[in-house]
Amino acid sequence: MTDTLVQVEVRGAIKELFRSTDSMTISGPAGTGKSMGALFWLHMMLLRHPGTRALVVRKVARSLTGTTLTTYREKVAKEAIQAGIVHFYGGSPSEPAAFRYDNGSRIVVGGLDEPQKIMGSEVSIILIDEAIETTTRDINMLRTRLRGATAAAYPHYRMVLLTNPGPPTHHLKIRTDIRLLYSRHEDNPSLYQNGKWTEEGLRYKAELDLLTGVERQRLRDGRWVASEGVIFEFDPAVHLVDRFDPPGDWDTLWGVDFGFTNPLSWIESVVDPDGRLYVAREIYKTKTTVDVHAARMRELSDRRPSAIVCDHQAENRAVLARELGMDTTAAHKTVSDGIQAVQRRLRPAEDGRPRLFVMRDTLDTVDDSLADAGKPTCLVEEFATYVWDVRKEAPVKQDDHALDNLRYLVAHLDLVPRREVQAVGSFGW
Ligand SMILES: Nc1ncnc2c1ncn2[C@@H]1O[C@H](COP(=O)(O)OP(=O)(O)OP(=O)(O)O)[C@@H](O)[C@H]1O
Ligand SMILES: [Mg+2]
Repeated sequence: MTDTLVQVEVRGAIKELFRSTDSMTISGPAGTGKSMGALFWLHMMLLRHPGTRALVVRKVARSLTGTTLTTYREKVAKEAIQAGIVHFYGGSPSEPAAFRYDNGSRIVVGGLDEPQKIMGSEVSIILIDEAIETTTRDINMLRTRLRGATAAAYPHYRMVLLTNPGPPTHHLKIRTDIRLLYSRHEDNPSLYQNGKWTEEGLRYKAELDLLTGVERQRLRDGRWVASEGVIFEFDPAVHLVDRFDPPGDWDTLWGVDFGFTNPLSWIESVVDPDGRLYVAREIYKTKTTVDVHAARMRELSDRRPSAIVCDHQAENRAVLARELGMDTTAAHKTVSDGIQAVQRRLRPAEDGRPRLFVMRDTLDTVDDSLADAGKPTCLVEEFATYVWDVRKEAPVKQDDHALDNLRYLVAHLDLVPRREVQAVGSFGW
């Protein structure tokens, strides 16, 4: 039997990978056996189910060879390769590299940086190593490759993502469509045996003990934590809430931070009777004129805002006011008090709950050009990179479009004396 060519003990999340049939993300600190365990599982499935096609990817094709594929070649499929059951095909300019099994199974390997090579494949299993490097869009794109299995092939379509933890706002941590499992150092048989750390385990742990700060918390302790110097402690477990339809009588506020090369950020927020602010909807999009944005706002929302708080660009504001048939309000722009006001809302109030929430899936559509450039594509993604400069005097000026907008909205509520905002003309949507 070919199955007896490898024997690996599996525990924890990898055991669950064998047991279940759904897609999953396995998160854990460095060296818990994620790559080895998942590749072993994949190898087993390909041996057992003739003609199964799989894709093993990383964000960057070149980075695969040194890491994931070395583990596969030298630890997981070594005997099978030596026995001639698996052959490596090096690929061509048009065809991706692949490991070919003599039972017709195959692993296509590649990077998301060379989509033309891998996107032609139809596969049953997609294994993404170091998945922290991926964007939501990468995952959605890859998911379309899960199809076309033959009758004898592995009978499920699955995506398996392996990752070290990153910021708590990362899509892998907050997405609800892919289960998140945790793996621990005790799950790695080379580090931990019979209730005790092995010699290798003690050595490895001592090495991880040398890490400091965020790296230590992520790679040693396996925690999803924000980078040092992050300005807003946005915790999705606390601040991100499921979508709901706000009652019609809750106050609605719109905020707009203009942009063309940079994204325009539009936020629709609602305020509950206790004064809690909920971000309910957003547009985050480049290269679109204000009149087109305005039309989209009207399509997306049937709520009448009590104010449209805007950054100070007279021309853009005039277009927006004209297209929406409503006056806009100039934002309270000072940074320091605005940041403090947002921080105050993010902290729990007396009743233990914060006063600022973001609903899940607020975004209208992802701007592909931003996703491709590795930039944030929505409000929640900006939190991770919004950090103080070294002297902690001002935020580092990058990717703060939706956060500026949020700051204006909070300042409007908390820092500006309330005043009536007059609607101009008809407001018939
Ligand atoms: N099931 C296992 N049985 C025996 N040894 C294992 C097993 N899993 C992992 N190992 C050993 O532990 C080492 C680290 O495992 P692996 O590279 O899979 O960790 P990882 O969780 O992917 O780490 P990283 O987070 O750094 O990518 C492997 O090179 C291998 O030697
Ligand atoms: Mg790994």
